[in-house]
Amino acid sequence: MDDSRADERSQLAVGVLADDRRLLIRYGGELADLLIERAQGSWLTTADGRRILDFTSGQMCATLGHSHPAILAAINDAGRRAVHLYSGFVSRDVIELARELVAVLPPALSRALFLSTGGEANEAALRLAKLHTGGHEVLAFTGSWHGMTAGAASSTYSAGRRGYGPAMPGSMVLPTPNSYRCPVRHCANHCDLTCLDVGMELADAQSTGAPAAVIAEPILSVAGIVPLPEGYLASLHARCRERGMLLILDEAQTGLGRVGRMFAFERDGVVPDILTLSKTLGGGLPLSATLTGAEIEQDAFEKGFLHFTSHVSDPLPAAVGRAVLRTVLDERLPERAAALGARLRGGLEELQQRHEQVGDVRGEGLLLGVDLVQDRATRTPDPDYGARVTERCVELGLNINIVKFPALGSILRVAPPLTISAQDIDIGLEILDRALTDARA
Ligand SMILES: Cc1ncc(COP(=O)(O)O)c(C=O)c1O
Repeated sequence: MDDSRADERSQLAVGVLADDRRLLIRYGGELADLLIERAQGSWLTTADGRRILDFTSGQMCATLGHSHPAILAAINDAGRRAVHLYSGFVSRDVIELARELVAVLPPALSRALFLSTGGEANEAALRLAKLHTGGHEVLAFTGSWHGMTAGAASSTYSAGRRGYGPAMPGSMVLPTPNSYRCPVRHCANHCDLTCLDVGMELADAQSTGAPAAVIAEPILSVAGIVPLPEGYLASLHARCRERGMLLILDEAQTGLGRVGRMFAFERDGVVPDILTLSKTLGGGLPLSATLTGAEIEQDAFEKGFLHFTSHVSDPLPAAVGRAVLRTVLDERLPERAAALGARLRGGLEELQQRHEQVGDVRGEGLLLGVDLVQDRATRTPDPDYGARVTERCVELGLNINIVKFPALGSILRVAPPLTISAQDIDIGLEILDRALTDARA
């Protein structure tokens, strides 16, 4: 096809999309004004032929890059064997994925359940915790995001709480320990865990004596890339123990190498009672896992644990999960995330020196946040500027994500695929530099 016909066809496709968009229920504000035709490696191509560097790995899932050959081969192979089965049947890939995942986890996490989404994995974790403890009270951070199913949404405090009726009884908040914006107005830049003391005191005061769990992200993402401060997780774990609560860690975004090691919780030497994995496990396909120990599994089984979904233990996503895990290990992606993360962080810190609006750079490995402020002294968030920066980035060929919930700030989330080249990291930094300047004008 000659260039002018290709151009005509893509113009037509964009025009059709603009009209046909009315067919869709808008599920998160207006949809982006783009029609994406291809996603390969770290790059997207639009219908009108523009190339966009993907600094969000899709929805933080495609850690291997888009359409990695290992994933395509696994889809192909599994497709020839079995895609989907009766939920009470299991296939070899499901057993092997459990074996391979358990092999890279501490011995206390030895039982796996495979579902489709992060919300579902957290839902299963919460149901396990309630059944096992006999309680129903669940604590989660003020800046949390654990999913859109009812239980997970009840423990999601960053957004979406108003207008849907009551949350699950027993849902309570813990202050997000963001030392750049201390939730209890106590610390500046270094958390001394006062917010945890305060949060636990408030939770104890509200408790009706039926504690079940704390659910937490080791690095809160929607809250603005907030790593739990050193010592926080160990202290949280001890407080859970004192109250008979289980600790659930949600490593949807942090698991499988993104933060420069296999799992974020490894830094603290704390093993959760229940671990959930999702986004990065499927590398872009819907696959999630809930993992726990033999004792909790046995107890829940004896109490009749039910989590029977249409796609539980599906063979095709399990085969993809195996391919993802194998690639993460074979290509040493955690080490790669650490090295490239240092390069990216260095670049962002250099931007911080030249752009007054970059108040803070934080995160680990290739999960980094850039906190945009009106001025550094007051640390007042600047969501309008942030929106202009991301819009300009897309015009210049970079997809970068902003979270701008009033209470949390306006933070760019930077999470490219772990397979990205150093050269593409530099291209992204150059585009961001220009966008930070242009958005001021
Ligand atoms: C930390 C975390 N947990 C859970 C979820 C929910 O996952 P899903 O959208 O696959 O249900 C998300 C989604 O953004 C997330 O960031």
